Amino acid sequence: MDSILVRGNGALSGAIPIAGAKNACLTLMPATLLCDEPLTLTNAPRLSDIATMTQLLQSLGAEVASLQNGLVLAMSSHDIANHIADYDIVRKMRASILVLGPMLARDGHAVVSLPGGCAIGARPVDLHLRVLEAMGAVLDLRDGYVHAKAAGGRLKGAVFEFPFVSVGATENALMAATLARGTTVLKNAAREPEIVDLARCLRKMGAEIEGEGTSTLTIQGVDRLHGATHPVVTDRIELGTYMLVPAICGGEVECIGGRLDLVGAFAEKLDAAGVSVTETDRGLKVARKNGRVTAVNVTTEPFPGFPTDLQAQMMALLCTASGVSVLEEKIFENRFMHAPELTRMGARIEVHGGHATVTGVEKLRGARVMATDLRASVSLILAGLAAEGETVVSRVYHLDRGYERVEEKLRACGAQIERIKA
Ligand code: EPZ
Repeated sequence: MDSILVRGNGALSGAIPIAGAKNACLTLMPATLLCDEPLTLTNAPRLSDIATMTQLLQSLGAEVASLQNGLVLAMSSHDIANHIADYDIVRKMRASILVLGPMLARDGHAVVSLPGGCAIGARPVDLHLRVLEAMGAVLDLRDGYVHAKAAGGRLKGAVFEFPFVSVGATENALMAATLARGTTVLKNAAREPEIVDLARCLRKMGAEIEGEGTSTLTIQGVDRLHGATHPVVTDRIELGTYMLVPAICGGEVECIGGRLDLVGAFAEKLDAAGVSVTETDRGLKVARKNGRVTAVNVTTEPFPGFPTDLQAQMMALLCTASGVSVLEEKIFENRFMHAPELTRMGARIEVHGGHATVTGVEKLRGARVMATDLRASVSLILAGLAAEGETVVSRVYHLDRGYERVEEKLRACGAQIERIKA
């Protein structure tokens, strides 16, 4: 297992290109199962999670060609030769559950392994199953798999209100509804930019969808979809992560491809903490307004609120702020595992249930720390960039799931960072 060594090296300045969104790509890829014509994605991120989804789709009989050094994914599923999404792949990546809706909608049956939990929480899929049942799916849960059949051979439109916002369940339902008989209305649907991107891609494929970006999606089912080419939307979580580099280290960084509408609530928090975010013709330029940042309180919420996927990274910044910040994590039940690792670096953090109280310190100190999940891993890198001395982050396979070429992108801004091969 590789590690990454970071040496605090003062202010960092430069330009960082932002890649296509992992969490958009992971729902756009299963959409290929909805039709027998080619679906091509451009601006695809080059990440291990994308490789895992590629492996899963290929196991179902889809053809997935990774072109132009991984930036283009040319996919087609003339017919789905195998309708079983195997545990050995699904257990590696929860997003695998997103093949369930498309397979059910296309062929009326599917067998998908339950994903199992993960470090940040139990992360059940009950909402995915309930909305598909509302659309006429008959589900039999046995041997750790969901055995699903569409009653009468085809899903039917339904009106379904989610009891709380779920990104994945909204994505599964949205894809399934495109081929269902009749009209589907999804209420309290997720509004994330990744959902908007999926809707736009499905519309290019011939789907009839209204309301993306709002909490009510209306889909008129059609008999078949056709192929399309679609660019993956910019990754707002990678964007937010790199916006924090000048905030925590000083200096000025331009995030190429960044858009303010993708990170509204996050940018507002940065502004309140004393970090300026300026739109340029290439993206977003970020710098401290003056010296040390100040403490702010953060509560994670579904979009357009503060993203849970930026909570760990924001905590790293607030560890060095002047004053006391309270972070409330309202989406996942165990998403503060970066706190004890940051504490090893001299941070002062008290975690009580879903709240973390951070008392800022002048300087963090480098230490050996361990990545526990994807976003925790990058928060430790951020802390290491600002700390005195050396930080070694172990288990960086977590990092490689969601951030491509981290060392290269940070070195371009003057960071002293290198990968230590295991
Ligand atoms: C997506 O996960 C993202 N992953 C997550 O990003 C992100 O943190 C999350 O949305 C919230 O924004 C992908 O898009 C691949 P949810 P998802 O369904 O869809 C509970 C990252 O770091 N829930 O919105 O799984 C669930 O346990 C990852 O890139 C149920 O109880 O998230 C959680 O507490 C981490 N039953 C809450 O809802 C369900 O059926 C929100 O989950 C579904 C979800």
